[in-house]
Amino acid sequence: MNISEISNRIYYAGVNNRTSELFEELWPIPHGVSYNSYVVVGDKIALIDTVPACYCIKFLYKIADIIGNKNIDYLVINHMEPDHSGAIQIIRNHFPEIKIIGNNKTAEMIQGYYGISDNIIVVKENDTIDLGAGKTMRFTMTPMVHWPETMMTYIENDKFLFSGDAFGCYGALNGAVTDDVAYTDDYIPEMYRYYSNIVAKYGVMVQNALKKLAPLEIGYICPTHGPVWHKRSKEIIDIYSSLSRYEAEPGVVIAYGSMYGNTEELVEKIAWELSQSGVKKIKIHNLSHTNVSFVLADIMRYKGLIIGGPTYSNSLFPAVDNLVKAIKLREIKNRSFAYFGSFTWAPAVTKRIEAEIEHLKIDVVASPFNMKQAPNPDIAEACRILAQNMAAAVL
Ligand SMILES: Cc1cc2nc3c(=O)[nH]c(=O)nc-3n(C[C@H](O)[C@H](O)[C@H](O)COP(=O)(O)O)c2cc1C
Ligand SMILES: [Fe+2]
Ligand SMILES: [Fe+2]
Repeated sequence: MNISEISNRIYYAGVNNRTSELFEELWPIPHGVSYNSYVVVGDKIALIDTVPACYCIKFLYKIADIIGNKNIDYLVINHMEPDHSGAIQIIRNHFPEIKIIGNNKTAEMIQGYYGISDNIIVVKENDTIDLGAGKTMRFTMTPMVHWPETMMTYIENDKFLFSGDAFGCYGALNGAVTDDVAYTDDYIPEMYRYYSNIVAKYGVMVQNALKKLAPLEIGYICPTHGPVWHKRSKEIIDIYSSLSRYEAEPGVVIAYGSMYGNTEELVEKIAWELSQSGVKKIKIHNLSHTNVSFVLADIMRYKGLIIGGPTYSNSLFPAVDNLVKAIKLREIKNRSFAYFGSFTWAPAVTKRIEAEIEHLKIDVVASPFNMKQAPNPDIAEACRILAQNMAAAVL
């Protein structure tokens, strides 16, 4: 219906999902998500990435709107995750002559997922395929951003980078595709969230990818989710660069669980003391109410992190346990950290958190403590010291 030419015979062929509650059945997507695919028209035609299998019909109509009854010569698979590879079979059925382009790891996955082993062109770092009419595709391997087979495709003349999940974000597209036309400020927090939920563990690999991209002149960044970045492309690369190095702003996240409110009182006390010490950005999350997805995004953004929670069956309160494990999984680094617990008969919180964070490169800035039953003056003093140390560490 709508033919969206991004620039110079490069078209958008993606779809929007505004019905799923959760991305990967894990991460809330209140504003939906897009699965982006692109059509590059030279003398030959290439399709870059596909969409989830359930959107195949819509996808074929979109492609037909763009190319009419022409053939697609190549399907470039930058990433094999099924939200991008799901339409491979139907595209092959539709265009039986099509050649699938991927690297050796892609080829193995295409065989495993879809039983396809013929008509595959295996490319290596810096290989090129010329579509004619000034459209040469160059391939760059970017392993673990965020699967082992991930690669990027660059069109030299047009300075287009098809980046896979990198530089992508949650949020369906609302009409326009590029940031020249669409209002994109609302996508930026969703980029932090997408990165912290899905990519954060692979910071080193993201840096390696950024090093490879550094010599390229990049006009348009075409990710597999979210808007196409053009006027903001430098800013978007800077965000990724900063996130992959675990850089942070001077603020503090306090994430807690509390059943009866005693632990929560300490949170209020600590937040007040932080504010008295000059910390302006203080983000408090009750982990029973805020999905860990949003908490992780704030943790990736701010320098300070404080976690508190009740002892629960000689272990951590489940919502707190979930967050601590999510932090450990992502090997979050360069943070100033403090933690405390509460209990009624036998404390378990601080020793459990200590065990979980043992190998993380984070600074514990205050002595962990456990409150017995309810706040008292000694505990209030421990909160004040914790907050002062944290303020000194992040400001
Ligand atoms: C299901 C359940 C299990 C608990 N397990 C323990 C425990 O193993 N050790 C302990 O000292 N307190 C345990 N408690 C008590 C709470 O940890 C304690 O009351 C805590 O301080 C409550 O903090 P809150 O007021 O912030 O919810 C348990 C409470 C519940 C409801
Ligand atoms: Fe992915
Ligand atoms: Fe994806």
